Amino acid sequence: MASPLQGIRSIRDLPIEQQRLFLRVDFNVPLEDGRITDDSRIREALPTIKHAIERGARVVCASHMGRPKKGPDPKLSLEPCAELLGQEVTLPEDCVGDAAKKVVFDLRAGQVCLLENLRFHPEEEKDDDGFCRQLAQLADVYVDDAFGAVHRAHASVHGLAKLFRDRGCGFLLEKEIQALGTIITSPEKPFVAILGGAKVSDKIAVVDSLLEKVSALVVGGAMANTFLAARGKNMGKSLVEADKLALARTILEKAEAKGVDLVLPVDVVVAASTQAGEGDAQTVSVDGVPADKMALDIGPRTVAEIAKRIGEAKTVFWNGPMGLFERPAFARGTFAVARAMADSRAFTVVGGGDSAAAVHAAGEDIAKKMKHISTGGGASLELVEGKKLPGIEVLRTGETA
Ligand code: 3PG
Repeated sequence: MASPLQGIRSIRDLPIEQQRLFLRVDFNVPLEDGRITDDSRIREALPTIKHAIERGARVVCASHMGRPKKGPDPKLSLEPCAELLGQEVTLPEDCVGDAAKKVVFDLRAGQVCLLENLRFHPEEEKDDDGFCRQLAQLADVYVDDAFGAVHRAHASVHGLAKLFRDRGCGFLLEKEIQALGTIITSPEKPFVAILGGAKVSDKIAVVDSLLEKVSALVVGGAMANTFLAARGKNMGKSLVEADKLALARTILEKAEAKGVDLVLPVDVVVAASTQAGEGDAQTVSVDGVPADKMALDIGPRTVAEIAKRIGEAKTVFWNGPMGLFERPAFARGTFAVARAMADSRAFTVVGGGDSAAAVHAAGEDIAKKMKHISTGGGASLELVEGKKLPGIEVLRTGETA
């Protein structure tokens, strides 16, 4: 089986000494009132930045932030990120043009600048050739470490990379491709996948792909309601995608035909509304959901079933919380699954986005024990769906990884 990194050079093997290095990072971090509320993506990019500094590269970091619609928007400036890079970083006011060129050409070996938000130029999302060429003027070598953005065929992750003979991946991207690539190409069995979150429709492609590979597929979170309803359970006021019942039935049949153990909740924590507190929450069997209540978490019998599968597994992939974990009354199921994964000896991989946030909310001791927590939301799902991602494929040069 070919390595998922086949043909992709690592920054380790690229000639970056004294060179201007275009380092695409994903600093698209959550901001509240200009303050970063979760800096994991920045912290995860630091080893590559540090490596580039130590080898005397002149480092030009670039990222997008948010989805600006009409050009520059001060609320989406990358300025707050610069402080976290642990050294003096210049931030030109634009990512291309004279301002950027001046800063970049003044950089000395081991110095770093951070270009302003690439999406302040609509050409970025259009993979515009002229924009790629303007960015290319700023560097000699290209390295992508922005795993969260590799599913986008945007200029800085796609068209730009093609313009460099010396191109490759940073340590974070390498780690992500290796971990998620192993999940899809050669997972050690038994392989258990746990999917949660709100909608069946968001996960359909990943379910299809996983059914070909897993020994057991656990479905929790609000999407489980639709499966339970498809099995004829009365889910009360729970969120059920009525137009996806037929799809859920097809998935259930497919799992059965493939001999995949499809695990659905046997008990759930219910309440009258998402605003309910501890005192109003109640655990019931899925056969007894009251008509005026909604399922907001999995119950303890379900947790035990999932923990048993995790205990037997050699590979576990988890994407999507088991309930409304942001509220303490409905967080137990999600946190218990996180703990069971942390305690397991399996190769444990957590897809990004909400699941990564859930694992961190469960506790940093738990997060540390996961073999891999992806920094990509859409990117990790699309990779597990088996798609070829533009920002990864463009890095393959035919030379050995
Ligand atoms: C993400 O947050 O998933 C990535 O940074 C990609 O952002 P986007 O969905 O706005 O392209």
